[in-house]
Amino acid sequence: MDLITDKYKRVIDYLRISITDRCNLRCIYCMPPGGIRPIEHKSLLSYEEITRLVEVAARLGVRKVRITGGEPLARKNLPFLIESLGRIAGIEDISLTTNGLLLKQLARTLASAGLNRVNVSLDSLYPERYRRITRGGDLHDALDGIAEAEKAGLLPVKINVIPMRGINDDEIEEFSLLTRDTALHVRFIEFMPTGSRDLWSRDRYIATDEIRERVSELGALTPVRARKSGPARYFRFNGAPGVIGFISAITHHFCESCNRLRLTSDGKLRPCLFSETEIDVKPALRSGAPDREIERLLRLAVEIKPERHSIASQHTFDHLKPMSKIGG
Ligand code: GTP
Ligand code: 5AD
Ligand code: SF4
Repeated sequence: MDLITDKYKRVIDYLRISITDRCNLRCIYCMPPGGIRPIEHKSLLSYEEITRLVEVAARLGVRKVRITGGEPLARKNLPFLIESLGRIAGIEDISLTTNGLLLKQLARTLASAGLNRVNVSLDSLYPERYRRITRGGDLHDALDGIAEAEKAGLLPVKINVIPMRGINDDEIEEFSLLTRDTALHVRFIEFMPTGSRDLWSRDRYIATDEIRERVSELGALTPVRARKSGPARYFRFNGAPGVIGFISAITHHFCESCNRLRLTSDGKLRPCLFSETEIDVKPALRSGAPDREIERLLRLAVEIKPERHSIASQHTFDHLKPMSKIGG
């Protein structure tokens, strides 16, 4: 086994796999009001093609996979993919990022198929506001889904909140207080300009330093050591069962320790969330190319992984694909 390390000495052991760009919601920060034109089904990688790619990636040292979307639970038969990925030697952690609406029905089956944990997007605790932010979602479905995921042992359940000034930033305190009563990991994410050109603005965006200051007015925050490298920095209130995380996607780069590659649902390896350079692996997967060709493409994606993103200094974001096409 050969761990792939990039030019900047970062070990790449994590693959984020988007399995669809479709979604049962159209969150205002992610999609334009009319939604997006989805990728045709025949252009999506099949579960067999994804599994084959992960087999090769695992031999190169990938240990963690995360299934993303769009909304991954909107694609049929996901437990089949989870089971196939779980059989691959070397894969230690299989997780899912979802809006949670379908978890009530699916959490148990996913857990039995081998899913380890879930991250759920939730941007308001008020039904009317939740409906407005998601353009139609029912908060109760999301909350029921979270409860079901906890029951099914998909732990820790991480909640992703994107505070946007004037939209939901008055809920920062309430969200962080959830960690005093529950074992949830509540993570505040900086609002990124990807896919939300009309909404994103420097005024709307809130840096994690500001969020953290507001949270710490409610009680002292003690750093929590995170097990795995990822974008969040974690803290907890004294004695609290839950954890609060801050994801500074824009301000403080976690690029120095970035350990990930992305795979889009139509089969493109994307070395960085914000880099539009992609490596198309679908032709190789579809034409039955040998493993060494798939391996070459994976290594190429690692080779061109940029040192860091420069999103904070960019003035236009029109070149960025919507988040639902990348998987966050
Ligand atoms: P774990 O830490 O493994 O639980 O997952 P995660 O936080 O990496 O995954 P999740 O899908 O929940 O992503 C949380 C937020 O972090 C989303 O807004 C992502 O877009 C953002 N994020 C994930 N990876 C990157 C990255 O490489 N760069 C940037 N800037 N943001 C990222
Ligand atoms: N800025 C920050 N995070 C975003 N996500 C989607 N769009 C954005 C954005 N513009 C998050 C979702 C989800 C994760 C995959 O990406 O909240 O939890
Ligand atoms: Fe769908 Fe997730 Fe985008 Fe919301 S953030 S529209 S739930 S893909």
